[in-house]
Amino acid sequence: MIRRYDTLRSMEKSGITLINRPDAMFVARDKFYSLVKLKNAGIPVPETAVVEDPFEAMRLVMKWKDVVIKPVVGSLGLGSIRAEDPDIVFRVSKSLLSINQPIYIQKYINKPQRDIRIFAVGDRILGGIYRINKSSWKTNVAQGSLTQVITVNQDLEEITLKSMKVLGLDYAGIDIVEDESGDYKILEVNGSPLWGGFYEATKINPAKYIVEHLIKKMKK
Ligand SMILES: Nc1ncnc2c1ncn2[C@@H]1O[C@H](COP(=O)(O)OP(=O)(O)O)[C@@H](O)[C@H]1O
Ligand SMILES: [Mg+2]
Repeated sequence: MIRRYDTLRSMEKSGITLINRPDAMFVARDKFYSLVKLKNAGIPVPETAVVEDPFEAMRLVMKWKDVVIKPVVGSLGLGSIRAEDPDIVFRVSKSLLSINQPIYIQKYINKPQRDIRIFAVGDRILGGIYRINKSSWKTNVAQGSLTQVITVNQDLEEITLKSMKVLGLDYAGIDIVEDESGDYKILEVNGSPLWGGFYEATKINPAKYIVEHLIKKMKK
């Protein structure tokens, strides 16, 4: 996406309607930048930091007890590690810094063995699924999770649509976890979500709604 950013921006400047808009995609691909924006808008997110010092990362795991260190730009659960041991966090942090990568560190939310993926287009919720994984803390479908269709309640609907608005996205796949009290926390908002698992579970094809939304936007 980043390689095409300038091209997409100039297409947009010349009057072509694009969804998702390149500026919104630019923000959404950066997990930290988007969570900061969501938090500032009052949307619940896990405690999260980007640090450049392995000692700071160690202090955070001692404070939060259980953390996830993930690629700030990434997907499919690939490359994310979970740790409780400050020495592991120290070593991982050192390694990341040696290849000029930021340390994106987040408190592990003690969720049930599942998370929630909501798919929305425009101001419409298409549906939601649980992604259930009994053998891994990562609940991506790509990590072998099973899916189950859920009814999207009003709270989920509100945080989903508000998050998309804050990030300026026309469509998105939103990852949400339930904490120990059952409260929701947004993990990330995907601006180019895969929808194979969602489609298989719900039989709803997002492509149709995305095209409809695009046509509506072009007519405006
Ligand atoms: N802070 C966290 N607490 C609990 N589970 C997490 C946390 N961060 C990630 N996960 C798990 O890992 C999965 C992948 O993390 P996510 O932030 O969505 O990155 P991506 O899907 O882009 O790799 C989530 O769906 C969730 O199951
Ligand atoms: Mg995800």
